[in-house]
Amino acid sequence: MSVSFKDYWYVACESKELKSDQVLSRKILDEWIVLFRDEEGRARSFQDRCIHRNSQLSKGWVKNGKLQCSYHGWTFQGDGKLVGIPSEGKDQKKIGNRCATTYSVVEQEGFVFVRLNDNKDKHTEPFKSPQYGKKNFETIRLFNKFNNSVINCAENYIDVPHTVFVHDKIFRDALDEEINCIVHRKNGHVEIEYLGESDNLGWFSWFLNPKKVPIVHIDSYYAPNVTSVKYIIDQKEFWITSQSIPISEYETWVWTDLTYNFGNPFVNYLARPIVRYQGQSVIEQDIVVLGNQAEVIKKYGENFSNATADVVHVLIESLYNAIKEGRDPMEIAEKKVEVKFWI
Ligand code: FES
Ligand SMILES: [Fe+2]
Repeated sequence: MSVSFKDYWYVACESKELKSDQVLSRKILDEWIVLFRDEEGRARSFQDRCIHRNSQLSKGWVKNGKLQCSYHGWTFQGDGKLVGIPSEGKDQKKIGNRCATTYSVVEQEGFVFVRLNDNKDKHTEPFKSPQYGKKNFETIRLFNKFNNSVINCAENYIDVPHTVFVHDKIFRDALDEEINCIVHRKNGHVEIEYLGESDNLGWFSWFLNPKKVPIVHIDSYYAPNVTSVKYIIDQKEFWITSQSIPISEYETWVWTDLTYNFGNPFVNYLARPIVRYQGQSVIEQDIVVLGNQAEVIKKYGENFSNATADVVHVLIESLYNAIKEGRDPMEIAEKKVEVKFWI
């Protein structure tokens, strides 16, 4: 059984972006796709290519829940079946049994997910954003475009050593603090559990951890494209979940859910603009760094050199590269390493 990146689910758009009678054009893994809603409001996706004379279907329009090509008006229903050829007039016998190339679509938690390949041997599900929609939790959803690969983006979101340089003060202070963690690769994901952290939360330490209690901090990478960061500080909980969508080799679209419960619904509500502003500021700093990294990689190729803390990257890349080679990351051997570094 061979596995490929096309076997996984990727966010194509947010549900609210795909209005009825609207046609959206997207690119995922360099494939052109078109999205629309059928007569029941169900999100549908086809290859963005008309089977007639190969015009882009996304240049067309939705008529009664069916997608009509803008070139000669061939019309396709939600399941891809060709249901109308205007030039055949009333007698539509020529239609036969023809279909657009379709993709599976699932709508979940405000996202429209698409899977390009229906590999029967590789069962995957769209990622569920932790604590999304749960009682007492707020979610701020951010969208950003990065000019780098999915794997370099994903690695950045759970790279701790860069935070004191790139996000100096906003997110963390450089304290020359010893950090201990356990890095655990199993079942197609890598989990990094940080031990004994209590400070180092930057500007908001006074609010997030006034009593300086030990913090639960676990970072996770789910191959190939999702990361989730979890903080539990006393009664407060904060999750940063990023779905990185491979548009092309050096283009990645990222939806980031900042999901939190600060212990009081009113405080949660008031915190929304602050969480949004802080989150977006941090991401914009990463966009600059990652854009620069990609320029260097394009010029000189990718050739990394590792320090102790980079074991996180090495294990993440082992899962990502497995898919690249057609292997299932779920089958990569379990590995657990204790790591110590300083920030
Ligand atoms: S190319 Fe689409 S209808 Fe002719
Ligand atoms: Fe960062």
